[in-house]
Amino acid sequence: MINVLLCGANGKMGNAVRRVADDNDLVSIVAGFDVNTDPCEFPVYDDLAKVSEKIDCIIDFSHPSLTDAILDYAKNNKIPAIICTTGLSKEQISKLEFYSRETPIFFSANMSIGVNLLIDLVCKASKVLESNFDIEIVEKHHNQKLDAPSGTALAIADAISDTVSYNPHYMFDRHSVRQKREKAEIGIHAVRGGNIVGEHTVIFAGCDEVIEVKHSATSKEVFAVGAVRAAVFMYGKGPGLYNMSDLVKE
Ligand SMILES: NC(=O)c1ccc[n+]([C@@H]2O[C@H](COP(=O)([O-])OP(=O)(O)OC[C@H]3O[C@@H](n4cnc5c(N)ncnc54)[C@H](O)[C@@H]3O)[C@@H](O)[C@H]2O)c1
Repeated sequence: MINVLLCGANGKMGNAVRRVADDNDLVSIVAGFDVNTDPCEFPVYDDLAKVSEKIDCIIDFSHPSLTDAILDYAKNNKIPAIICTTGLSKEQISKLEFYSRETPIFFSANMSIGVNLLIDLVCKASKVLESNFDIEIVEKHHNQKLDAPSGTALAIADAISDTVSYNPHYMFDRHSVRQKREKAEIGIHAVRGGNIVGEHTVIFAGCDEVIEVKHSATSKEVFAVGAVRAAVFMYGKGPGLYNMSDLVKE
């Protein structure tokens, strides 16, 4: 049994992970970390120093302000950390890469297997279409989401940038400049409303034809399923930075 410390245990994703882990024979959540210490089926602590249970792996769906402390906890206890929190700063991404030299770290802005397939498909499409099509990304999320654009939209843009032969720049604020669209840009747009779980559409707009590749998540469970699968995947892994494409390949 893999003993998991769940960071953000009383949040929306924390609750989804609890439901998914309940049905999984390999994973057991033995402790939680959250500012909200409402009791549940395991103890929830408001300070990582208070965790007394033996922990094999961390699953984190909390807040970027906690990421540094969670990485330190993983490093000090020599256990894998699955960081699913989004909105990390560039410095935090660098820290994550630096820590992964000593600690097994799994990081993915989107834990859904479907989104990772979408990334694969849009990279293939970008190779074929790059010279004649403009690329725009539109993401939609619920009205409680804090960061914009989503970490997934940025991950899609980064994957396209790594694929095409030119070096695109990202255009977030089209309203702030009055000028025509440049060829070497990827427009990234965020929509917030209602309880939309997560939608990402990549638009390839050419002359007289448009291709759209879209993924829609209708429930948060898809991310929780991915996180629990990642806990199993990471068990026994050595130091390194892992992501969903490593998991999907295995
Ligand atoms: N990678 C993915 O696939 C994926 C999918 C969904 C959500 N997310 C990300 O996961 C994170 C959590 O999402 P959510 O919808 O569950 O949010 P949420 O607000 O419902 O839950 C966050 C939890 O973290 C706790 N928390 C926040 N700040 C804290 C602090 N300083 N100390 C202790 N606890 C603190 C809150 O009390 C809350 O219980 C977000 O960053 C979100 O974007 C990632």
